[in-house]
Amino acid sequence: MKPVKIGIIGLGTVGCGTLTVLQRNSQEISRRAGRAIEIAMCAVKNIDKKRDPIANTVKLTNNPNQILESSDIDIVVELIGGIEPAYDYVTHALRNGKHVVTANKELLAVRGKDLFQIAQDQSVVIAFEAAVGGGISIIKAIREGLAGNRIQSLIGIINGTSNYILTGMKENQCSFNDMLEESQKLGYAEADPTFDIAGIDAVHKLIILASIAFGVPLQKISDVNRIGIESITYDDIAYANELGFSVKPLAIAKRSQSGIEIRVHPALISNQRLLANVNGVMNAILVTGDAAGRTLYYGAGAGAEPTASAVVADLVDVVRVMTSDPENRVPHLAFQPNSISSLPVLSVNEISTANYLRMTVENQAGVLAEVTKILGDHEISIESILQKGTGSHEDVLPVVIITQETVESRMLRAIEQLESLDSVKGTITRIRIEDLN
Ligand code: HSE
Repeated sequence: MKPVKIGIIGLGTVGCGTLTVLQRNSQEISRRAGRAIEIAMCAVKNIDKKRDPIANTVKLTNNPNQILESSDIDIVVELIGGIEPAYDYVTHALRNGKHVVTANKELLAVRGKDLFQIAQDQSVVIAFEAAVGGGISIIKAIREGLAGNRIQSLIGIINGTSNYILTGMKENQCSFNDMLEESQKLGYAEADPTFDIAGIDAVHKLIILASIAFGVPLQKISDVNRIGIESITYDDIAYANELGFSVKPLAIAKRSQSGIEIRVHPALISNQRLLANVNGVMNAILVTGDAAGRTLYYGAGAGAEPTASAVVADLVDVVRVMTSDPENRVPHLAFQPNSISSLPVLSVNEISTANYLRMTVENQAGVLAEVTKILGDHEISIESILQKGTGSHEDVLPVVIITQETVESRMLRAIEQLESLDSVKGTITRIRIEDLN
């Protein structure tokens, strides 16, 4: 099949991230979509502006109409943000029968009603997974995965910049302004960072989520109760911590008997809650449905490639919708049936992990030396050793060893040899340590 041609409007952080992901993963992407995705052209305001070198690999124009009017281009990716001129570009694309993929939460929150109507009239799609939660597929999760539920609430951290600022203030004991500057340097903040710190960006995202979750219209911005994080000081964060709480920028949409609550504000959350441990630029959304119960979605909510991940996922979805064969629209196993490839399943012996070993040993001189020698003979490095016990009168003592990463087969041989020592009593408890990085 011929590649699908796309045009991208806007090559900022997310636009360049999208080019990178499309190029790096082109094989995987076309195996999933059933067709290659070709970037026909990218429109930017100023062609001469210094940008990521990936931008040199595509054809640039400073005239978006070249994309919007091109009969070759089937999908327009809008990544400029803001309402104008994005609204004009998106409506122009839809009216010309093009599908649109966008990350523009403000545009959808404010003008979504008109845009969805135009798309419906034109029988085209507006896909917007990247508008909320960056690399987390929260829209799909609510719209498709939880479609059988009556959703009761959504509580989440949906602005990465404000979470990054509050986390950084706590961890580095520094000021709000220092962290704001850093988040701007890293490309997390909106063009106008007031959107992040005053909670406006989270309001846009929450309006979209609430509509999808509860089946209500996109709410008015002024109907969402909003408080920003600007007035939080390091002292507030430190006092809250002493009391067992973290200060988090929350977005909340809840059903009650009489209607829906919808609000964005900083809040104290008990440190024992998972949301309190969502740090840095990470986002997480706790969705409670009557059937599924509580489900938590976590991931990078801002940044070039995480957001690009959602843009590209939408492109794949749209390309699947465009394929004429309904059976292959969404392949049962995600990849097109003729693109399934075989990869060998590794033997467990080839897997490497760090390990926790707990053994009971005789309480006498030289025993630890024997144990560590066996580990050394098998080239297993020790990360730490903990000897428990209350004194020399005990005959045996528990010893816990954390090893560094080692190959399974080597670990098993060492355990066998350790268990054969007279000084090691019974069997050794071994638990693999998973490094979740
Ligand atoms: N400024 C936004 C944030 C970017 O910090 O979450 C992603 O929408």
